[in-house]
Amino acid sequence: MPCDPEILRAEFPILSSEVNGRPLVYLDNAATTQKPRAVLEASRHYYEAVNSNIHRGTHHLARAATEAHEAARRTVASHLNAASPDEVIFTSGTTDGINLVSNILAGEMRPGDEILISTLEHHSNIVPWQMLCERTGADLKVIPCDEQGVLDLDAFHELLTGKTRVLALTWISNAFGTVNPVTEMTAAARQAGARVLVDAAQAVPHLPVDVQALDADFLVFSGHKIYAPTGIGVLWGRRDLLETLPPWRGGGEMIKEVRFEGTTYNELPFKYEAGTPNIEGAIALAAAIRFVDEIGMAAIGEHEGQLLRQAADALASIDGVRLYGPDSRAGALSFAIDGVHHYDLGTLIDQMGVAVRTGHHCCQPLMARFGVTGTTRASVACYNTAADIDSLATSVEKAARMLKL
Ligand code: ALA
Repeated sequence: MPCDPEILRAEFPILSSEVNGRPLVYLDNAATTQKPRAVLEASRHYYEAVNSNIHRGTHHLARAATEAHEAARRTVASHLNAASPDEVIFTSGTTDGINLVSNILAGEMRPGDEILISTLEHHSNIVPWQMLCERTGADLKVIPCDEQGVLDLDAFHELLTGKTRVLALTWISNAFGTVNPVTEMTAAARQAGARVLVDAAQAVPHLPVDVQALDADFLVFSGHKIYAPTGIGVLWGRRDLLETLPPWRGGGEMIKEVRFEGTTYNELPFKYEAGTPNIEGAIALAAAIRFVDEIGMAAIGEHEGQLLRQAADALASIDGVRLYGPDSRAGALSFAIDGVHHYDLGTLIDQMGVAVRTGHHCCQPLMARFGVTGTTRASVACYNTAADIDSLATSVEKAARMLKL
C-alpha cells in the first residue's frame, strides 16, 4: 500500500467526521491514533467468530482463539525482529510494561545503586522508578537536556558509573519529538553493566524498530499509538534475562504447577501473563501491525517528518510563536504563543475543527525545566495531509490574533 494519506484516510472511518461543523483535523496522534477498518474488522471478527478463553480449552473455539492469539505474538515478534515470539509479552500498554520491569528488577537493587533516566521522560518512565527507589534505597539520576530539548551526552557519560543498575530511556520524546540516540546510549550503558529499558511508545509508530540491532534488555510500547485498540501493549525482553528474572503478577496461566506448599512457574512468555489476557486486543494489534507493514515504517516516518517540517515552518512564521525541541523531530511538535495560555489556544482551535493536545503531556519535570506549565502539541500519523497542517497553521494564526486582542 503506498504511503499516500489521501488513500490511507479512506481506511479510517472517524476521519470523515465533522467537529463544530468543520471537517475533523486530527493532530493528537501521540495521545492515541485512530483505527483503520482492518483493525475494527479484526476486533469484530474475533467477537463474532472466535471468542473463547485461550490455552485452557479443548473445544474448537478455544483452539481457534489460542491460535489467533499466538499468531498475533508471532506478528509482533517479526515486526520487531525479535529472536523469538517467546520474548514478546503482552501487557496492557507501555505503563504496564515499565511497571512490570521495574518490579522484576527490584531483587537486583541495593541501597546506593542508581537508576538513570532523562529529563525527557513521560511520567510513566519516572514514577515506577521512583517507587522502586523508595522500596530499595536506590537513587534516581537524571540526564539533563539543553535548550533545544536534546539530551546532554557528556552528562550522560558522566552519570553512567559502576553504580548504575538501570538506564530507562525514551526513544522519542512524546512532548517535543526529540529522537534520542538510543543505540549508542544502550551500548554505553550495557558496557557499564546496567540493564537498559527503552520506552518506545512514540518510536514504534514512527520508525522501523529492530530489537536485535538495538540490543537493549527491554523495550515497551502501546498498541493504541500504532492504530490498535487501547488496553494492549508489548514488553519485549531478552530471553536469557526474562528466563532468570522472577515473575511479577501471580495467577492463572503464569504457573506450571500450584500446590499449597509452593508453585512452579510457566515458561516464557506465559510466566509474565497472569490471568485471562486481552485476546481481542492482541489480535487487533496484529492487524494494525500488518497494516503499517504493508505501507512500510520507513515510508511512514518520512511522510510524517515532512509534515512536521511543514508545520515547523508555518508555525514559526506566526508572530509570537515559539517552537520547542530540535529541528529534526519525529511524531510531535510542541509550541507556545507569547502571552497566550495553551489551554485557550487548544480550545479555540478545536472550535475550528483542529484537535491537538495542550498541557504538560505527562512530562511535568520537562515543562519545569523550560519554566512553563505546558505547551500546545500537534502530533502526526500516516493519514495526516499537508492540508491538515495548513489548517493547523491557519487556525493557530487566527486564534493568536483573537487571544492577543
Ligand atoms: N502519552 C500520551 C501523550 O503523550 C498520553 O499524549
